[in-house]
Amino acid sequence: MNIGIIGIGNMGYALSVALSKSKEDTILVYDRGKYKVPKIKNIKRANSLIDLVKSSDTIFVSVKPNDAEKLFDEISLNVEGKTVVSVVALYPYSKMVEKMPKAKICKIMTSIAAETGKAPVLAYCQKELFESLKRLLEKIGEPYLFDEKIIDALVPITGSGPAIVAYFLDSLSQYMLLAGVEKDLAERITNLVTYSTSIYALKKDVDYRTLIKKVATPSGITIKILQEFDKRTLKGNVVDSIYSKIKEYVKL
Ligand SMILES: NC(=O)c1ccc[n+]([C@@H]2O[C@H](COP(=O)([O-])OP(=O)(O)OC[C@H]3O[C@@H](n4cnc5c(N)ncnc54)[C@H](OP(=O)(O)O)[C@@H]3O)[C@@H](O)[C@H]2O)c1
Repeated sequence: MNIGIIGIGNMGYALSVALSKSKEDTILVYDRGKYKVPKIKNIKRANSLIDLVKSSDTIFVSVKPNDAEKLFDEISLNVEGKTVVSVVALYPYSKMVEKMPKAKICKIMTSIAAETGKAPVLAYCQKELFESLKRLLEKIGEPYLFDEKIIDALVPITGSGPAIVAYFLDSLSQYMLLAGVEKDLAERITNLVTYSTSIYALKKDVDYRTLIKKVATPSGITIKILQEFDKRTLKGNVVDSIYSKIKEYVKL
């Protein structure tokens, strides 16, 4: 299958690497500026936007929301019968349908960590289209069909997730600097803790509270630290911060 990706910035690059794992697919990429193409055999540079659109069966759009409006207009005449998958955050599905009425459209949300093939992929489209796209979406990670409103509300977790997680991990790593560990090693240790914890939780299927209970024994140091977090309403502040910003975009 020929898959096209328009916009090879942070997100488009990650998608191209993830999707190239199917050796039976050719990934055509295009960006209006100078851009880096991953050195992978089945990823090829398209000569022009229209070349990419005409040669692809499924087209991923990964440009900023401000550029999406014009881009959908530009490609609309050449996407008849094709599938357009948009990763543009918070861009309404109904507007895409209006602009490209003859295309099959799917709106997805994932993150740059899609490059690992392990990211959550939330999708909004017709169930039949979702089923036919599953093979591709599974190269990016774990696909789920959701309501559009939920997809938009979850952008801070699914799309912004790597940055938000990195923000918190940075504070753990900064603590290690205080303890005298140099930055690279502190970040490596933080990553290993996070990675092993995620694998542990996924494999054992334990929820967060059970996991905390296993570590935070009644008289140990962990419980004292967590109680201090609670005293400073850390968790509540995190929830409030996300909520106060997303409600500027989505009615919850
Ligand atoms: N970054 C993330 O973590 C993330 C996560 C989830 C979803 N997303 C979504 O992914 C989309 C892309 O984000 P990004 O961070 O990858 O942005 P980015 O790094 O700025 O990449 C977008 C690329 O698309 C190019 N472009 C714009 N209009 C184009 C056109 N008409 N034809 C061809 N190329 C065009 C841009 O060129 P110029 O440099 O000339 O503008 C740029 O190189 C956004 O809609 C965002 O909401 C991003």
